[in-house]
Amino acid sequence: MSRYHDTYARWRDDPESFWAEAAAEIDWFRPADTVFDPEQGPFGAWFAGALCNTCHNCVDRHVQAGNGDRIAVRYDSPVTGKQGNYSFDRLLREVSALAAVMRQRGVGKGDRVLIYMPMVPEALVAMLASARLGAVHSVVFGGFAAEELALRIEDATPKLIVSASCGIETLRVVAYKPLLDAAIAQSQHKPATCLILQRKEHPCALIDGRDEDYAACLEAALAASEGTECVPVAATDPLYILYTSGTTGKPKGVVRDNGGHMVALKWTMAHHYGLAPGETFWAASDLGWVVGHSYICYGPLLHGCATVLYEGKPVGTPDAGAFWRVIAEHGVAALFTAPTALRAIRKADPEGNCIAEHDLSRFRTLFLAGERSDPTTVSWAEDKLQRPVVDHWWQTETGWPMSGNPVGLGLLPVKPGSAGVPMPGYDIRVLADDGTEKQPGELGNIVCRLPLPPAGFTGLWNAEGRYRETYFSEFPGHYATSDAGYRDADGYVFIMARTDDVINVAGHRLSTGAMEEVIASHPDVAECAVIGRADPLKGQLPLGFLVLTDGASRDEGALEREIVALMRKRIGPVAAFRNALIVARLPKTRSGKVLRGTMQKIADGVSVAVPAAIEDPEVLEEIRAALGRYDRAAGTQA
Ligand code: COA
Ligand code: AMP
Repeated sequence: MSRYHDTYARWRDDPESFWAEAAAEIDWFRPADTVFDPEQGPFGAWFAGALCNTCHNCVDRHVQAGNGDRIAVRYDSPVTGKQGNYSFDRLLREVSALAAVMRQRGVGKGDRVLIYMPMVPEALVAMLASARLGAVHSVVFGGFAAEELALRIEDATPKLIVSASCGIETLRVVAYKPLLDAAIAQSQHKPATCLILQRKEHPCALIDGRDEDYAACLEAALAASEGTECVPVAATDPLYILYTSGTTGKPKGVVRDNGGHMVALKWTMAHHYGLAPGETFWAASDLGWVVGHSYICYGPLLHGCATVLYEGKPVGTPDAGAFWRVIAEHGVAALFTAPTALRAIRKADPEGNCIAEHDLSRFRTLFLAGERSDPTTVSWAEDKLQRPVVDHWWQTETGWPMSGNPVGLGLLPVKPGSAGVPMPGYDIRVLADDGTEKQPGELGNIVCRLPLPPAGFTGLWNAEGRYRETYFSEFPGHYATSDAGYRDADGYVFIMARTDDVINVAGHRLSTGAMEEVIASHPDVAECAVIGRADPLKGQLPLGFLVLTDGASRDEGALEREIVALMRKRIGPVAAFRNALIVARLPKTRSGKVLRGTMQKIADGVSVAVPAAIEDPEVLEEIRAALGRYDRAAGTQA
């Protein structure tokens, strides 16, 4: 019998006692005056008055408890052929020394540290060193190009940047340093120091007076036995800013606090993921995404688990058995990945032959999130792995699952296509556009009643107006998730689509608005629209529609290549933008709004009603014809 229903009811009846009990699992330098203060911040604050330090709870605490020799980080890098473990003792030494290096370079409480790194342990060490000083880190995913990085540097104004000479993708080395230099050149704000990790695969030149060698600085601090104590911060002080895509090209800096974040994440490790301290947890994501923050770095370490830091892909490094090898070699108890990774594995190894080659005896559960889990992929994984495959749903803004199947409380029946049931902390409702509640089975806007639980984002960096407007104005008293879906009669949540212009490509959240801004900057483009078209591997792929400026006459292929190059340069390879087609007009409403949703349905071959407000229904036929021509030329669809 699952304890889920009792636990959820206990939370609903008395949220403050529920979270006070969870908070007892965290070391506080000073306890909170109140569990929840509704008067603080725009929507209240958790653990107001408390003093704490996240690094202390992730690292020092375990050493002080006599567990310093336990493994904290298991680095596995098939792209470099390297493996290496960090015990909690070693992690403490390196984090403390790196924090000393940062402090000597002027980083203190509240200062920002930007981290632009591949999946190497030094990135995680830098996050913890920043937390140790009470500084605020902002990790930028390595697949973003210079311009996106520049936007983040300009907004977060970091005193110090930690970066590396290169990252390694399956078949190519990605030189990070030129991207970093270009970003700093573009940004109004200039960091005082850049600590650069030199990698032997592609070392880089350092700029005098600004750049310093990461390893040399760390070595010197270690040799001189320099370290730092954990700086006490308010529970409500920011731990990090993580930029995520919104409707416009300007990314949103999601701000997360220290105290509530620790309480919620620690709770999930035992109760949602069902892990015990000392076990190994693996989130096969990237530190640059929220999944990486919560479940590569903070969650497992708070719980005294070992975390796997994997620098590789699900396929191609070297084959579709990579995930099963890592699980076997590191004794992984639970894996968290995106459905797209499983689809890639299934495509390469449909029979699951690689699975049988590895000892998965310590592996209990596969967790999926980041995009909708299609029932075919879930069934395939259940069948081949003979273990529970659990979908759960969350967002950068929440920092942990809003819905899921809490293995730690006892697995509930798995319903294919559903992201599980609401987690304690989340009162999930489905509302019509006018705010009235939908019946079970009816599609609507998914919202959560306020307040958000601990770890819910406390703001958008430098953008409080945007914070209130984007998330809290449409449905007063609720957090608007921008996801659409329904709940069934048993309360299971089904997430079907985004309600904004955000698309999900290979588990990466991307803004079509940002892509449109890039296309619109091309001199031959008068107007454009980008949609997310269904893709069997990556879930969605961006597709651009271009209207040429008067008099411009262009070869479609050549223009497409120019736009693709522009997109890689301005947003980065992560946009996975490869397709654009020229059309004479875009379908619009009479008030001039581009009908992207309708275009997307046509591109996906879904039946579509002609919107009542459309200016000229003929344009839809033109779009259909252009897509047909395009697909025939590409040899893809009929
Ligand atoms: N640094 C630099 N470039 C990167 C990068 C990084 N950290 N991550 C991805 N890229 C590049 C890729 O090399 C690729 O470049 P290319 O166009 O030159 O081939 C491009 O960005 C697109 O990447 P992606 O869409 O991820 O495609 P892929 O073919 O490299 O891999 C998958 C496909 C499905 C295997 C991969 O996307 C995956 O594992 N996704 C899971 C995502 C995930 O974990 N999301 C977090 C939510 S849980
Ligand atoms: P991110 O903030 O990058 O984690 O992306 C969050 C978005 O990814 C959500 O708003 C959803 O649109 C999508 N998403 C995440 N998890 C799931 C899931 N389990 N099922 C469906 N969509 C999901």
